[in-house]
Amino acid sequence: MNTVLDCRGLDAGYAGHSVVRDFDLDVGAGEVVALLGPNGAGKTTVLLSLAGLIPRLGGEVSLLGRALHGGRPTTVSRLGMVLVPDDRALFTTLTSLENLQLARRRGGMDIQEVLTHFPALRERLDVKAGMLSGGEQQMLAVGRALIQRPKVLLLDEMSMGLAPTVVESLLRGLRRIATESGVAVVLVEQHVTLSLEVADRAVVLTHGAVTLRGTAAELAADPNLLRRSYLGAQHG
Ligand SMILES: Nc1ncnc2c1ncn2[C@@H]1O[C@H](COP(=O)(O)OP(=O)(O)OP(=O)(O)O)[C@@H](O)[C@H]1O
Ligand SMILES: [Mg+2]
Repeated sequence: MNTVLDCRGLDAGYAGHSVVRDFDLDVGAGEVVALLGPNGAGKTTVLLSLAGLIPRLGGEVSLLGRALHGGRPTTVSRLGMVLVPDDRALFTTLTSLENLQLARRRGGMDIQEVLTHFPALRERLDVKAGMLSGGEQQMLAVGRALIQRPKVLLLDEMSMGLAPTVVESLLRGLRRIATESGVAVVLVEQHVTLSLEVADRAVVLTHGAVTLRGTAAELAADPNLLRRSYLGAQHG
C-alpha cells in the first residue's frame, strides 16, 4: 500500500492532558478509513491534532514519508493535510462561489473541476452559504477542501444534522472522490453502517484508546464485535 498518512503512538488532548493515547493510524492513497466510536471517545481530538489545531502531546505523524513536526495549522494544510471541521466553517454571508474563490486564492484545483464532483452546487453558486441546505453546505465544505488538492482529507461528522438519504449520497460521493483522485480519507462518522459500506477499513476509538480495527467488511459482518468495542472492550 502506498501510505500517505502514517501516525504512530499519537497522544493528543488539551492543556497538556492526553485524552487520546498511543493512537496508530495509516491511510493509503485513495483509501477511506472510518474512525468510529461513541461520543467523547476522542475522534475530533485526533483530527484536530493531526491538523495541527491542537498541539501534539506525543507520537509521530508523517505525510508521504515526511515527518510533520506539529507546527501551525496553515503549514500542515499547505503540506496536504486538510480538515473539514464538524461545524463546516463556511463563510455564511458569502456566496458559494465566493467561498470557493477564497479557498483558491493561493491556487489549487479549478473551480469547474471541483464542481464536477458536486454538480448540484452549480445551480447554487450565487446563493449565500448560510442559505444552502445542510447537504449543500457539506458539499461546499468538502469542495472547498478539495480545491487545496489535499493528500489527506480529514472529515469530522459530515453528516451531522442531515437526513439519511443525504448522508448516503454524500458518503458515496466521497468514496468516488477518494477512488478517482487518490486522496487518503479519514472519516469520522456516527452513521456506522453507512460508513462501513463506503470505507475500506475502520478503527473504533473508545475512551481515547483503540478497541477494534479491521477491514470495513469484517466489522460490518460482526455487529456484536462492533457493539462490544463501543462499550470499551479491547479486541485482539
Ligand atoms: N477544548 C477542550 N478542552 C478540554 N477537553 C476537551 C476539549 N474538547 C474536548 N475535550 C474532551 O476530550 C474528550 C474527547 O472529546 P472529542 O470531542 O474528541 O470526542 P469525540 O469522539 O469527537 O465525540 P463526539 O462524537 O461527541 O463528537 C472528551 O472527554 C471531551 O470532553
Ligand atoms: Mg467529535
